[in-house]
Amino acid sequence: MARFFLLVLVIVASVLSEETPDIPKFLTRGNCAKVSYFPKFDLKRYSGRWYQTDVIEIPYQPYTKCINSFYEYSEPKYGYNVRTAGLTPEGEHLKKEGKIYPTEKFPASHMLIDFPTIMGYPYEIIDTDYDTYSCVYSCVNWNSYKTEFAFVFSRTPENNGPATAKCKKVFNESGIDFSKFVPVPHTEECVYRA
Ligand SMILES: *[C@@H]1O[C@H](CO)[C@@H](O)[C@H](O)[C@H]1NC(C)=O
Repeated sequence: MARFFLLVLVIVASVLSEETPDIPKFLTRGNCAKVSYFPKFDLKRYSGRWYQTDVIEIPYQPYTKCINSFYEYSEPKYGYNVRTAGLTPEGEHLKKEGKIYPTEKFPASHMLIDFPTIMGYPYEIIDTDYDTYSCVYSCVNWNSYKTEFAFVFSRTPENNGPATAKCKKVFNESGIDFSKFVPVPHTEECVYRA
């Protein structure tokens, strides 16, 4: 009987540990930076529209230009419904929907991304003022390799604006090389429909 329960325990444990993201296709050498927690994160103030202005590129994102997200906060669900949209390199408008929410494992500013194509990746807010910028790190260790993504979010769709300047400093101080980021073009062809 005891052995049976042990077996069940082992099976449950192995299922639980599979919550980590699958298929790490975009590995780079090294380990993730250990970023600090943003204290007393206010989920409601963070809701609304954010524009991606600079990113460490996410090959999972089908869009490369005009990327914008709308974070709809749900108090009972304690998280966001998020719609993200943008233009593909060919100029096609695409939209995706998913969820981003805090978990019991970490303080509220270290959330989890739950999108059809990007499941189980962290969404770690290193710093935000809610009104101008948000600097977000999303990195997973795989032994001596990592999948490392990061975002500069701005409340306004502009390149080289105050959000970029602030997050450049924040990432640098967190040991994340800002030269890995590329700008997400926000030009006159953009429409914002997320
Ligand atoms: C941070 O900036 C300084 C000064 O520009 C630079 O020497 C250093 O390498 C940067 N650190 C990272 C992690 O990119």
